[in-house]
This record gives sequence, structure tokens and C-alpha cells, in this order.
Amino acid sequence: MHDDAPNASGRPGRALVTGGAGFIGSHLVDRLLARGDEVVVVDDLSTGVRENLPASHSRLAFVQADLREWLNAGAAEAGQFGEIYHMAAAVGVELIITDPIGSIETNTEQTSALLRYASGGRAGTPAVVVASSSEVYGKSERVPFREDDDVVYGPTTATRWSYACSKALDEYLALAHHRAQGLGVVVARLFNTVGPRQIGRYGMVLPRFVAAALASEPLRVFGDGEQVRCFCDVRDVSRALIGLVGTPAAHGGIYNVGSSADISIIDLAGRVVDVLGSSSKIDLVPYDEAYGPGFEDLRRRVPDLARLRSAIDFRPEHDLDSTIRAVAEAMGPAGVSR
Ligand SMILES: NC(=O)c1ccc[n+]([C@@H]2O[C@H](COP(=O)([O-])OP(=O)(O)OC[C@H]3O[C@@H](n4cnc5c(N)ncnc54)[C@H](O)[C@@H]3O)[C@@H](O)[C@H]2O)c1
Repeated sequence: MHDDAPNASGRPGRALVTGGAGFIGSHLVDRLLARGDEVVVVDDLSTGVRENLPASHSRLAFVQADLREWLNAGAAEAGQFGEIYHMAAAVGVELIITDPIGSIETNTEQTSALLRYASGGRAGTPAVVVASSSEVYGKSERVPFREDDDVVYGPTTATRWSYACSKALDEYLALAHHRAQGLGVVVARLFNTVGPRQIGRYGMVLPRFVAAALASEPLRVFGDGEQVRCFCDVRDVSRALIGLVGTPAAHGGIYNVGSSADISIIDLAGRVVDVLGSSSKIDLVPYDEAYGPGFEDLRRRVPDLARLRSAIDFRPEHDLDSTIRAVAEAMGPAGVSR
């Protein structure tokens, strides 16, 4: 594993990871513990699972709580944390379609509360990373996506765009706290992140494909399958997040985080079948059937990574085939890797 930079103080520190029992959060926790940090995780286990974290570790404290309730109930003073990784969110377009109110409120209210908390640290303010999403670009067709590009959304009657808007609001709030309060906050616009511990329940494509391939069931590709995405291994993404937080010059900025290697979803399905030697067939499923009437998907979603590369030394170390194998291995009989 590539060594992570020490935190900004240069000493082993104390980090808060919200949503740390989730997919990306738990990989962050692994890296922070390996770096020597003390880590506090706050997670309500709405989509995360406790088994994603070490069962017991002398430098890990796990709090099962809704983030805003934990903050309101007298959370420890923010200044004790050198770094805060804000990963807690209602994630993914499918969840926002099934629970629109809960998803919008979770994404905006939790982030607002977290940023107020971080800005109010008396013993010094922590450096913060807020996880945003490539969804923020909306249906912009200007590829590759650059951080300063205009964003384009559909009408507010189409629930799908509320995910993008909730994440955009998080970004406005983060940047406002940087300007008004001097908070050392960085916004990471994450593109498709994949790897062990991701679950397919909320529409995430790679775990769905791998599970189907392992069970010799058909891989269900939505639409015509020609939509193009870039997939980055979670172990590379978590390294980038730690690098950005630990780089004071990056604070106050927005960074695309992901891979720029693009692949269509139909080709991804083919790769999964090939890499795992599966006998599954690939079925095309109309969007209406998958998401309900009127769903709009994006044809190409590819990040421009120039800004990220100018801020930190970032080269993905895991290629897609090795990630597919790692996802399959981690699924095992119980579906969870620890
Ligand atoms: N996985 C991706 O491809 C991807 C892409 C773009 C953005 N992101 C962003 O990255 C972050 C992490 O996503 P993930 O893929 O690890 O999803 P995840 O669902 O595995 O992780 C989110 C975690 O937050 C927890 N959580 C949710 N609401 C909470 C609350 N109110 N209080 C406390 N904990 C709460 C969940 O239990 C879960 O453990 C999210 O902000 C997401 O929007 C992820």
C-alpha cells in the first residue's frame, strides 16, 4: 500500500470519520489506523455495517448514532480532531427515488450541522473533507467534467436531480465556511468508486454485476448499455481523500476524484463475466422498468483530473480487473469481507 502523508500537523493525530462504517468510510478508517491515528467513527448504520470495521482496535472508537443527533448531544469538542472526513450521506440516485424526503434532509442537514461543528472548534479548527459527487455536474454534456464548469439540471419535478442539488448545496456550504470562518475544508467530487464492501442494494452497478456473475444469473444492464463511466478503486480514492485533507494549499477548493479510464456499462458487464469466468448472460433492461417512467441518465461521465494531480501525487494503483477480482473475493459466502 502506498504510504499516506502524515496529517497536516506531521504527528499521528485524531480523526473523525462520519459514515465510517460505510463503503468508502471504512477504507478511510483502515488507512488512518495504519497511519497511526486515533479514529472516531459516527455512523447510524443505515446503509453501513459494523462488520466493515475492525471488531476491536485500541485506537478505534465506534459510535452508532445519527450524526446530527450526536453533534447536538454534546459531541466532543471539534478542536480535538486534526481531521474530519465527512462521508455520511444518503447515497445514490436509487435511494433518493425511493426515499426523497429522507435523502434530501440527510444530505443537507447533516452536512450543515457538521460544518458548523467543525468551524466552532475552540482548540483549533480541524481540516475537513466533504464528500460530494460527480452527480453535481447534472446532465452537462461538456466532457471531461472540469470543476469550474457550469452545471445543468432537469426540472424539480424530476426527483432524480434532488441528489445533485443536495450535494451542490453541501458544496456551497463548505465553501462558505471556508470563506467566512476560515475552515480548512476541501470538497471532493467523487466519481464512480468501486471495490470490496460496496453493496448492490442501492443500485451500485459493480457489486450487482459481480453478485450476478458469481451466481450464474443474468447481468441486468439498464438502457442500451452504451452509457460511459469511469471506475476508480476505493483504495485509491481513500488515499486521494487523505492526501487532499493533508494539503493545506488544497483547502477551499473543489477537486474531481476518480479515474479517467472510461468504459461503457455493457463493456463493464462483459469484463465482469470474462474476469470471473462466469457463464452468465447479459440482459438489457429499459430505464422505465428499472427506475420508473421519465428517468434521465447521463451518456458520458468522465472527470478531468488535472486539478487533483496538481494538488497531490495521484496515480490509481488498482486496475479494473483487479478490482473486479477483489470485489468477488470479498463477497464470499457471507457477502462481507471481514
Ligand atoms: N460510492 C460512490 O461511487 C460515490 C460516488 C460519489 C459520491 N459518493 C459519496 O461518498 C460518500 C460515501 O459514500 P459510500 O459509497 O461509502 O456510501 P455508504 O452508504 O456505504 O456510506 C455512507 C455511510 O453513512 C452512514 N450514514 C448515513 N446517514 C447517516 C446519518 N444521518 N448519521 C450517521 N451516519 C449516516 C451510513 O450508514 C453509511 O455507513 C457519500 O457522501 C456519497 O455521496 C460516493
